[in-house]
Amino acid sequence: MTDAHAPLLSPIRNYTNRIWMAPLTRSRASMPGNVPNEMMGTYYEQRAGAGLIIAEATPISPMGHGYYATPGIHSEAQQAGWKAVTDRVHAKGGKIFLQLWHVGRVSHSALLPDNQQPVGATDVISESKTYIDHSMERHDNTQPRALETHEIPGVVQDFVDATRRAKAAGFDGVEIHGANSYLLDQFTRDGVNTRTDEYGGSLENRLRFPLMVAKAVVEAWGDPSGVGYRISPLSEHKDVRDSDPQATFSTLAKGLGELGLEYLHAVETWDRSEVDPRLDSVIPAIVKSFKDAGGKLYIANGDYAPESATQAVDSGWCDVVAFGRPWIPNPDFAARVAQGGPYREPDRDTFYGGGPEGYTEFTSLEEEAQEATSTR
Ligand SMILES: Cc1cc2nc3c(=O)[nH]c(=O)nc-3n(C[C@H](O)[C@H](O)[C@H](O)COP(=O)(O)O)c2cc1C
Repeated sequence: MTDAHAPLLSPIRNYTNRIWMAPLTRSRASMPGNVPNEMMGTYYEQRAGAGLIIAEATPISPMGHGYYATPGIHSEAQQAGWKAVTDRVHAKGGKIFLQLWHVGRVSHSALLPDNQQPVGATDVISESKTYIDHSMERHDNTQPRALETHEIPGVVQDFVDATRRAKAAGFDGVEIHGANSYLLDQFTRDGVNTRTDEYGGSLENRLRFPLMVAKAVVEAWGDPSGVGYRISPLSEHKDVRDSDPQATFSTLAKGLGELGLEYLHAVETWDRSEVDPRLDSVIPAIVKSFKDAGGKLYIANGDYAPESATQAVDSGWCDVVAFGRPWIPNPDFAARVAQGGPYREPDRDTFYGGGPEGYTEFTSLEEEAQEATSTR
């Protein structure tokens, strides 16, 4: 043990530490049906040492899918599959939220019911690629259509239904995926949302749908302490941009804070060597807006190492750090931080799809110690 990372190892609210696991799509659900399986249960159980696991992005409806083999939360079988996962995490003393996802325009008709067109904030295509089968070959996204005004309450209802299923599946809460260019982000940012109805145009209009979703999810969960929201205010991932991220996301954060949300979670960057110079002013403004309005925790994410994360918590930049890639090859990442390493590096080739390789085959320090004693 080392106390170099003590700030990360201290509890906060209901969580045993501040080393959380960021949502990571791994595309290993059982197909057909996008059903969470036993291998996924092993993967999450191995990572139960996180203060909170935020499980991978999980489509709320058949139209919310955008990648092959991502687990959903809109059928009985999916709900039962997730229940087995949460039981295993809880048996190890862990906590787990589910990330609720609708990809919007970032999809391919081969993944959607009756080969429909994807639906987005507008009919502008996303210049990105996706995979539609086990080959994991990349395909251009399909031309989307804009959601009709009258369809929006139906999507809000899908979020509500998914929240109820997540609760029935034993999750400790849900995180609304408002980041990384997916549906809610497509409505939030003016680079994509050029709608002319009450869901587009002014900032108030652009935030109407995301805030309707947040309010409905809080009501469906029954308590705001079971709800978080993820944003990526400075990302330009998949061509989703905003002309004034500070104003847009501070206003969104205020609305979320007023709902008393448990946390606001931001992807600050994916690469600290290329940080957007606006980060140092934009993030504190957003966090202040969230907390002043009644929101609880700020979760920072993006290319943090144990040292930089410790400094971020110590300096008051954030309350918690969510790590993504470090949890992939280090299933006991929090225990490794507690003793100062060692850390394995992730391998991109096994991020998405496939079997146990690059997924559940990494040993923990405890297993390695047992192995060493039994072979001595
Ligand atoms: C394999 C992989 C899958 C990801 N899947 C998701 C996801 O499902 N939802 C999400 O919000 N972000 C997702 N992300 C982004 C991560 O949560 C995180 O923001 C990013 O990896 C940067 O943090 P890190 O440097 O700690 O890895 C993914 C990233 C990777 C590498």
